[in-house]
Formats: sequence, C-alpha cells, structure tokens
Amino acid sequence: MKLGSEGRVCLKERLLQYLTCPACGGAFQLQDVEERDGIEIIRATLQCSACAKSFPVVLGVPRFADLLQIEADKAATAASFGWEWQHFTQQDTRYAEQMLAWLDPVTEDFFRDKVVLEGGCGKGRHTLLAGHWGARDVVSVDLSDAVESAFAATRGSPNMHIVQADLCNLPLAQAFDYAFTIGVLHHMPDPFAGFKSMASKIKPGGHFSVWVYGAENNGWITSVVSPLRRQITSRISPRALLHLSKLPTAAMYAATKLVFGPLNKSRRGSRLARKLFYGEYLSSIAGFGWREQHTIVFDHLVAPTAHYVSGKEFRKWWDEIGAKETVIGWHNKMSWRGFGRPGHNN
Ligand SMILES: C[S@@+](CC[C@H](N)C(=O)[O-])C[C@H]1O[C@@H](n2cnc3c(N)ncnc32)[C@H](O)[C@@H]1O
Ligand SMILES: [Zn+2]
Repeated sequence: MKLGSEGRVCLKERLLQYLTCPACGGAFQLQDVEERDGIEIIRATLQCSACAKSFPVVLGVPRFADLLQIEADKAATAASFGWEWQHFTQQDTRYAEQMLAWLDPVTEDFFRDKVVLEGGCGKGRHTLLAGHWGARDVVSVDLSDAVESAFAATRGSPNMHIVQADLCNLPLAQAFDYAFTIGVLHHMPDPFAGFKSMASKIKPGGHFSVWVYGAENNGWITSVVSPLRRQITSRISPRALLHLSKLPTAAMYAATKLVFGPLNKSRRGSRLARKLFYGEYLSSIAGFGWREQHTIVFDHLVAPTAHYVSGKEFRKWWDEIGAKETVIGWHNKMSWRGFGRPGHNN
C-alpha cells in the first residue's frame, strides 16, 4: 500500500499511518478494496501484517468494535447515542464558539498543522471544525453508529477520518500532537480508563483537552434527573423519548428566550442572569434555536450511564498521568475542562 506523498491529493488511505492493530500493535495492509468514491474507500478489509487479524471497512468507516460483542453497558450507551446522532444531524454556526469554550485555553490557531485525535465524535461537528481550522489530520473515534453521520458530514474532506472503536481499545499509534474529548468520558463505565487510553496515544510533548460533567452544583440533576434517566428515559424507545423530551425543552426554551436572551443584551442584565439558577449555562445556550435545545435535553435524558465528576477526582486523573502545565477550569459553574501535557510514561 502506498501513502500519497505530501502536496499530492492524498487518498484517505493516509489514515493508515495512524492505525495499529488493537490485538498486537502491528501495521495494517489495505486489501480487497471493493468500492471507492473519490478519495473515500467505502468497502475494503484492513489486514494486520503481524497477526493476520482483519477488520472491515464498511460504508467508508473502519470498524474495530462489534456492538454485538462488547460489554452490555457500553452497548446500551452506543445504542442510545447511535440513535441520537443519526436523528439530530443538524450543524449550527454557534458550535465553534461553544467548542472553544469547552477547550479553553485552546484557540482556533492551535489546531493548525497538528495531528489530532478526537474521542467520541458523535455526528462529527467538532471533527469538521478541527479540520477547517487547519489540523493536518483529525482522526475521530466513536463507538456508536453515530459514525455514519460523522462520515456523511466529513465525506470527501482529505484531513478528516472517522473510525468506529471503543476509546478503551484504540486501534491507534502514539502519533497525535493533540487529543480532545468533549462530553464523552462521563458516559463510559470507567471514565478514567478512557482518559488514560486517549492520553497514551499522544506523542511526548503533545497536548490533551477534556470536558466532563461536574459533580458540584449539579445536585438537583444527580438527585432528581439522574434517577429518572436511569430508570425511565434511557430505557424507553428513543422515538418515545424524542416526543417526551419536548416538554422539558419547552420550559428551557421559554427561559432562554424570554429571560436569559433579553437579560444578556445589557451588561447589567447579563450580570443578573448569571446569578440566576443555572444562569451561566442557560445564558451560554440562549442563542440556540429549538432544535439544538431539543438535542441538548434529549442528550441528557437518553444516556444510560452518566457520571458527575468532582473537581478533586478530575485533578487526580491529570496527576495520575503525570500531566504538566495543566490548566483546569470550572466551566459554566457546572462542568470541568482540563488542558495539559500528559507525562511521557502514561
Ligand atoms: C454526548 S455524545 C458527545 C458527542 C460529541 N463529542 C459532541 O459533543 O457532539 C457522547 C459520545 O460518546 C460516544 N461514546 C460513548 N462511549 C464510548 C466509548 N467507550 N468509546 C467511544 N465512544 C464512546 C457516544 O457514542 C457518543 O457519540
Ligand atoms: Zn495484529
């Protein structure tokens, strides 16, 4: 297999330089290419040159996770989010600002020329932004069938690659300048395992960004919403939840459009807005329309697993990977974001 040389229009075969066999760490050969579409390889086989294990490329996406074989809790999470991101496929111009707020102190320029790993890409909204901001390559991994939407969103973009895999069993080399994960680790049975696994794919000296739900200030969610989510909303059919979730969405939508949006038009008003219940957070989403707010509510209610991580625990994650220059921030007074350089031996 030949990789495209720099400067030439590279096939998305260039993804192969980042892939390694999850069983033995060997390199892959691309075989049995049955279908291509422009630069996309739609149907083929990836064959490990060391242990001869093979994995299919189906509908343009290399498949390293078999949802029928993985642990039941991960399969349930994948089923919920697979449905969500194949339904809510919209893009929104506000995603850029929202993403940079989750990744602060990272800015658009930070992506330029970097090889980037994204953990849990959903429909690929952040893959698109990272790619447009000049990343050399973005390799975005998700366990669920959300990869179908992510592939559709990034199809034909030479520097964006979608892979279906479990974050705890990444088929990737330690080849990344930067890795980020937004709203994913708290949905894993063992968030720290996902954190460590991603960190291990970052090159020495590279950077890592993580955003997770916080335990602090979310008491009413953990005591009222989470039991309902675990017992009811994550168990009913996604289509039923789609309709049911319109009720809380209507309440949130009314609050953002009638209270937070107008208050945020003046400096005095926005100071007041931030003092109200979930004021920082509701102010931050006030500009979104109905569909995006419906996505946010549905997203909170559909997940079978959701951990709310304390600041103490979050700091410990970074300490345990020997991270340097770590910057930890309390985002919207309800979540944690972290940025740092993992230690060499993670
Ligand atoms: C709340 S969504 C966030 C998606 C995306 N980061 C975004 O902000 O739009 C969580 C995503 O994590 C993925 N996910 C959950 N557990 C995973 C795992 N073990 N490995 C890879 N992805 C996982 C889900 O399939 C889902 O797409
Ligand atoms: Zn192998």
